[in-house]
Amino acid sequence: MHSTEQVPHHLFQLQSSQFPAECIQYAAMEASMDGMAIADSNGHYTYLNEAHAHVYGYASASELLGKSWNILYDAHELAKFQSQHMPLLWKTGRWRGEAIGLRKDGTTFPQEVSLTVFGDGGLICVVRDISAQKQIERSLIESSAAMQTLVSIASHELKNPLTVFQSYIDLLTRRVALLAPRLESSDNFDVLTRCAQDACARMRSCINTFLDTSRIVEGRLTMEPERFDLSEKVRTIVAQYAFQGGAGAQCPILVHAPEPIFMRGDRLQLRHMISNLISNALKYGDGKPVEITVAAVNGKPTLVVKDQGIGISTDSQQRIFGRFERAVTSSRFEGSGLGLWIVAQIIEAHEGTIELNSGSGTGTTFTVTFPRPQLEH
Ligand SMILES: Nc1ncnc2c1ncn2[C@@H]1O[C@H](COP(=O)(O)OP(=O)(O)OP(=O)(O)O)[C@@H](O)[C@H]1O
Ligand SMILES: [Mg+2]
Repeated sequence: MHSTEQVPHHLFQLQSSQFPAECIQYAAMEASMDGMAIADSNGHYTYLNEAHAHVYGYASASELLGKSWNILYDAHELAKFQSQHMPLLWKTGRWRGEAIGLRKDGTTFPQEVSLTVFGDGGLICVVRDISAQKQIERSLIESSAAMQTLVSIASHELKNPLTVFQSYIDLLTRRVALLAPRLESSDNFDVLTRCAQDACARMRSCINTFLDTSRIVEGRLTMEPERFDLSEKVRTIVAQYAFQGGAGAQCPILVHAPEPIFMRGDRLQLRHMISNLISNALKYGDGKPVEITVAAVNGKPTLVVKDQGIGISTDSQQRIFGRFERAVTSSRFEGSGLGLWIVAQIIEAHEGTIELNSGSGTGTTFTVTFPRPQLEH
């Protein structure tokens, strides 16, 4: 802001109401930080403020007065004005968009332009240099791309040793089960193998979360749809939880999936989706039984995951499907708040729906419904 001393004395003495409206408009245009110009019906400047001249690298407005606005764009950009922007301008009386301006020294810069037509074919033009904004956008895109690449590489690299680690732990778990009758109960080998299984499962789920998140953020959640039996898939996932024990070992899992329920979808994505719902039910299930049902409801493949745990308050039910949203604050429950966001994205990619039925302390039921499968020929 100018202090009163900086304002020319003769202006300070005047009240704005004493200016004719036209005069005020010109004063406002002069004071504007955006470049503003008026061109006649031949495209020659009849007025421009100093900012308009400076943005194109000219020392003063007088250098451009009477000249055509065409000198401020290169041939390629002019062709775009002729073929795309001007037809829209003549049609609607207004055009607003981005263009590349040409400075006096021959360099170019990105700009935001707004053009309005006068009744006599003249133009009023407002221009803003958006180089800084574009530079910030570019560096954000670059750093986000670099971060996504790092996440993808790190996750893939971690998966290989984890698979080897998991197979050794599985082997050890089987051996411990066989040797159980000969082991002292104080040896606690079963507890130790369960802890190792739990750590493995958490690491795998973390890596999958990283991978799913980076794919979703990059818009790379590509589908490789196949026909498969949802009941069988759920049974396989539950069997892995049961064999590996771990976090949910204290919650019994009951599966009701008596019939094959065929559907089309991306197996891997759906496995992650189902695992996320089951691991939530086990984590927040308060040690009580978790029931999983697979059925065709009105011909639509449906999966219901029901627990009797801590529940979710009505206030939080909408937001928990958002990224990093959690409804628990207790450090008892580890988590990143990404699981349900991934679940929702995967279901959306499969054109399905998810319904949540819960309340504080009353347990939680998630119902996932997929579209009725098309008949396969
Ligand atoms: N079955 C459930 N019972 C009670 N609360 C749940 C249940 N499922 C989800 N929530 C609530 O919703 C929140 C979001 O779930 P989400 O799976 O996205 O994240 P998380 O479990 O906290 O972490 P992670 O990303 O590791 O899965 C949870 O923090 C929890 O508050
Ligand atoms: Mg979760």
